[in-house]
Amino acid sequence: MQTINRLIALRAATHAIKAADKSLALVPTMGALHAGHLELVKEAQRRADAVAVSIFVNPTQFGPNEDLDAYPRMLEEDAAKLRAAGVDLLWAPPVSEVYPEGFATSIHVAGPSSGYCGGARPGHFDGVALVVTKLFNQVQPDLACFGEKDFQQLAVIRQFVRDLDIDVGIVGVPIVRDADGLALSSRNAYLSSAERKAALALPQALQKARDAIRAGGDVAVILAEAQKAILAAGFANVDYFTLADAQTLAPVLVKGDRPLRLLAAAKIGKTRLIDNLAVE
Ligand code: PAF
Repeated sequence: MQTINRLIALRAATHAIKAADKSLALVPTMGALHAGHLELVKEAQRRADAVAVSIFVNPTQFGPNEDLDAYPRMLEEDAAKLRAAGVDLLWAPPVSEVYPEGFATSIHVAGPSSGYCGGARPGHFDGVALVVTKLFNQVQPDLACFGEKDFQQLAVIRQFVRDLDIDVGIVGVPIVRDADGLALSSRNAYLSSAERKAALALPQALQKARDAIRAGGDVAVILAEAQKAILAAGFANVDYFTLADAQTLAPVLVKGDRPLRLLAAAKIGKTRLIDNLAVE
């Protein structure tokens, strides 16, 4: 695996891949890699001849009250995992290679970025859109893999890629779950053992709601019951538990024939967990 942190060297490496007539997939990450990220790598390897992974803790997607400095950075450990997984190229730029002095551009994605996590973290998805656009221009992949765990992020990325005619195929990779059903997340490490047990109420409520909606139940009643069940299990609050159009993320109260997604975020102790489930 080549580890690269200068744009000029990255260009040479990606040009060599293209000159060899190989397709290239990118897996953008902020590091602190877990099994969910390695699943993105596997999917990228299934779909392309060469795989690049980026590790970049992106300052523009952190709000003023979010602790950018405290975000875990473990480049050596992450690089070892990627090498073992057979990744071809690790792009790990310093901030100056992504946002050089004098950088003055921003991207705002309306529509799917409003509400849900976008409501709780103003500007967050604009920062994601900006860095993903930069990473696409730097690495120039044919396709890129993102986890469905961050379903709103995936919808935002699909939106600006479509809007800006960016020629990169976007692949959504299904959520990786522990054997008992909890979605993998680096935040699960913050849960006490009692919280870890209680956290299962979130995926369980999603499954129950999905089955009830499929069976034709009243959506508003089903969503309210799901929230009650999550609170009864010991969550401190439910940020949102909604049925949404899977593309626009607009809330839906009557099931039609378009793809729908249940989206949820809830706080247990000090940890905010998100999860989602396809309805159709
Ligand atoms: O999902 C993430 O880890 C980040 O938001 C991403 C897509 C790598 C952009 O910084």
